[in-house]
Amino acid sequence: MSIVIAIDGPAGSGKSTVSREVARRLGLEYLDTGATYRVGALYCLREGVDLTKIDDVTAMVATMNVQMRLDPSNPHVILDGEDVTALLHTDTISLVVSAVATNLDARAVLRDVQRRLIDASRERAGVVVEGRDITSVVAPDAEVRVLLTASEEVRLVRRTGDGADPATVRESVLGRDQKDSTVVQFHTAADGVVEIDTSDLTLDEVVDAVLTLAKEAGA
Ligand code: DC
Repeated sequence: MSIVIAIDGPAGSGKSTVSREVARRLGLEYLDTGATYRVGALYCLREGVDLTKIDDVTAMVATMNVQMRLDPSNPHVILDGEDVTALLHTDTISLVVSAVATNLDARAVLRDVQRRLIDASRERAGVVVEGRDITSVVAPDAEVRVLLTASEEVRLVRRTGDGADPATVRESVLGRDQKDSTVVQFHTAADGVVEIDTSDLTLDEVVDAVLTLAKEAGA
């Protein structure tokens, strides 16, 4: 039996680290749906497309040649044969990616891409999928649906590494969430979604909580 574990949450909620670890422990694949929005933004920037032009951005996203490698120990995004994984989490992309994420037509295209990847994973062992609208829109039929939350303060601290500019971090965490929450709800759990407030929990505690839910669901 295969399993799909959907994990949503805002920036800094810990969902990437938790999702990858859960996937590793259960021998599942790992899909970072945020990466699909990020690679769309990168492609538009490279091709000189104005990110405010809804139709132009949608056309780019619909025709981009992207491959996602779903290994949780080594996830990769390949654009036109080039490994662009390391470019996707730079400030350049983090500060503009909401322009793609708030474009409803581009979202529809990327949602189909994400669903195809999830369906393919279902033919294998299954997948842990992280994002903002996985539990509610992309895979509401997932066997396990979790919303990770954390206080603003904790989320900012988690994203402020050594030398990071606090104003940039603030914009790329809170500013981005604010923009994104105009098109997708990820601060409150939909019906049947288990909310875990990670503010006072260690990574291991959150991973254990998700693993317990996965076992209950038959993983
Ligand atoms: O999780 P992340 O920071 O890599 O996400 C990148 C952007 O994409 C962010 O602005 C939120 C958006 N996003 C989304 O709207 N829906 C998803 N399922 C995943 C990400």
